[in-house]
Amino acid sequence: MSEYEELVRYLRDSADDSKSPSTQRAKLLNHISSAEERLVNDTTNLFKGIDLSGKRVLDVGAGNGFQSLYAAYYGADEVVAIDPLGSGSESVNGTLLGQIAVDYPQVSHVGTTLQDYNNKGKKFDCIILKNSINHLDEQACIQLQSSRSAWESYNKMFSKLKSLSSNGCDLVVRDASHTDFWLDMGVSNPFITSIDRDKHQPPEVWANMLAKHGFTDPSIRWVSIFGQLGHLSNRIFNSKVMSYLTSNVFVLHMKTIQK
Ligand SMILES: C[S@@+](CC[C@H](N)C(=O)[O-])C[C@H]1O[C@@H](n2cnc3c(N)ncnc32)[C@H](O)[C@@H]1O
Repeated sequence: MSEYEELVRYLRDSADDSKSPSTQRAKLLNHISSAEERLVNDTTNLFKGIDLSGKRVLDVGAGNGFQSLYAAYYGADEVVAIDPLGSGSESVNGTLLGQIAVDYPQVSHVGTTLQDYNNKGKKFDCIILKNSINHLDEQACIQLQSSRSAWESYNKMFSKLKSLSSNGCDLVVRDASHTDFWLDMGVSNPFITSIDRDKHQPPEVWANMLAKHGFTDPSIRWVSIFGQLGHLSNRIFNSKVMSYLTSNVFVLHMKTIQK
C-alpha cells in the first residue's frame, strides 16, 4: 500500500471510528498509534472547531499537502495548496500532493510562494500555515525582533494574508516556538533533535503582528508529541507544560472580523 493509500485509509478509519474513550484508551495502551494515525490526529487538532464543509481553504506552504487532503475530505468546496516546491520544471506528479489533486479535483496546487501568489480576486474562508510561517522568509524570521526590514517583510506577507481572507476567515498557524525546557536548561532536547529554535518565534509575536492586519480573537493551544496518539492523549498531554517539556509546538487560531 502506498503512503497516500495508507493516509487515506487512516483518514477514513478515524472518521468512522468510535470516538469513545474506551476505544481510544485501548489504542493508547496497545501502542498501536502509527505515524499515519498521529498525522491524522495532529491534523484533526489543527482544524479543531472549524467547520470545513463548503469552505474555500488556502494551504500556505502545503508541503506534501496532507492538510489539503484533510480539508477536501471533510467537505471543503475548494482547496488551494501553494508551495514553491513543484514550481518551474519540477512537478508534483507522483507526489502525495499530485495524487491528492487527481482524486480530489477540488484541490489544486499552485507552485509559487505566498509573496508571488496571484489569487485573481479569490478570497478564502480558512487559511492554514502548518510549519511554514517561519519558512516564508527564514532570514527575516530569525531577525524579526531586531531588524526593521525583517519586520517589514513579514508585515507585507501578513497584509497579503488579510487581502486573501473572506470576512470571518479562520487563520490557523501551527509552528514550534522559539525555545523549550531543554534549551532553557542548556541541554539538548531528547524528544526533538532536528530543530533550530532560533528560526522560530513564540505565538504571541505572530499574534501581535497579525492583529495589526485585522486578524482578531487570538487563541493559542499547545501541542505535545504525546498528544497525537488519540482522543484521550490529546486531552491529557496537549497542555502548555507538556508541550514545553517536549516539542513546544503551538496552534494559533485567529479570525477576521465578521460584519
Ligand atoms: C516545513 S515545510 C511544511 C510543509 C507542510 N505544511 C507540513 O506541515 O508538512 C515548509 C514548507 O513551506 C514552503 N515554503 C517556503 N517558503 C515559502 C513561501 N515563501 N511561500 C509558501 N510556501 C513556502 C516550503 O517549500 C515547504 O514545503
